[in-house]
Amino acid sequence: MTSSHGDGRGTLAAALAWQVAAGADEAVGEAPVDRYAQPQAVRASSVTPMPAAAATPAKPMTAPPPANSGAADAHRIAAGADTLEALRAALAAFEGCALKQTATNLVFADGNPESGLMLIGEAPGADEDRMGLPFVGVSGRLLDRMLAAIGRDRTGAYITNILPWRPPGNRQPTPAEMALCLPFVQRHIELVRPRIIVLIGGTSAKTLLGTAEGIMRLRGRWFDYSSPGLAHPIPALATFHPAYLLRTPTQKREAWRDFLALKKKIESADSI
Ligand code: URA
Repeated sequence: MTSSHGDGRGTLAAALAWQVAAGADEAVGEAPVDRYAQPQAVRASSVTPMPAAAATPAKPMTAPPPANSGAADAHRIAAGADTLEALRAALAAFEGCALKQTATNLVFADGNPESGLMLIGEAPGADEDRMGLPFVGVSGRLLDRMLAAIGRDRTGAYITNILPWRPPGNRQPTPAEMALCLPFVQRHIELVRPRIIVLIGGTSAKTLLGTAEGIMRLRGRWFDYSSPGLAHPIPALATFHPAYLLRTPTQKREAWRDFLALKKKIESADSI
């Protein structure tokens, strides 16, 4: 009696398991969308190679990308934004990164751009994608507690990510995706001009410092972050990502050390 139902359910369950394994971890629409039907230019530009990493950890990747690449478009478009609102609008209109096609929302930033303190994570997860705000899921709650421990909340900090769109299934962003989004985050920093930057996790630290060194070696260290549009370098602290701390609570002690150093730096920085 179970045969046809059982078989049908088994087939459906297998198809669902296949989709989950492929990274489709939530339903975002009633009707399927053929992503391969997107214009060729959109897909082609998403595989632009990342520029070579700079030689020293304290230098961001500022070498101009090849003139005819998607990264060159990103550079030009980001450089043309003179305000945060213009940068947000430019990102919302940018078709060069295929992640936009699968994301629900652009995740631009949250908090107070006047606070002097800018935190930069990796990429939105499912909760952030749904709400259009960075760090609002479980790791965001830990980040809020870490900020509270040094007397700050989102009125006293400004938060963004290297990538403004969620990679499907929370996979690791590719070097090509990061190269495409880097000009926007560099411009974001230039427009906010914070007194202090916190690089949250290895992806953020490596991308903005232009180094291949891992977070284990970078965390707890201060770097001078600079880019062509900044009048002077900004002190940047690398620290562990809260998602890593949730998986590895024994490292919370090191993160606490980093936040105490951050607090001290904030107190010694004029008027932050
Ligand atoms: N992890 C990040 O790096 N950024 C977010 O916004 C959420 C989780």
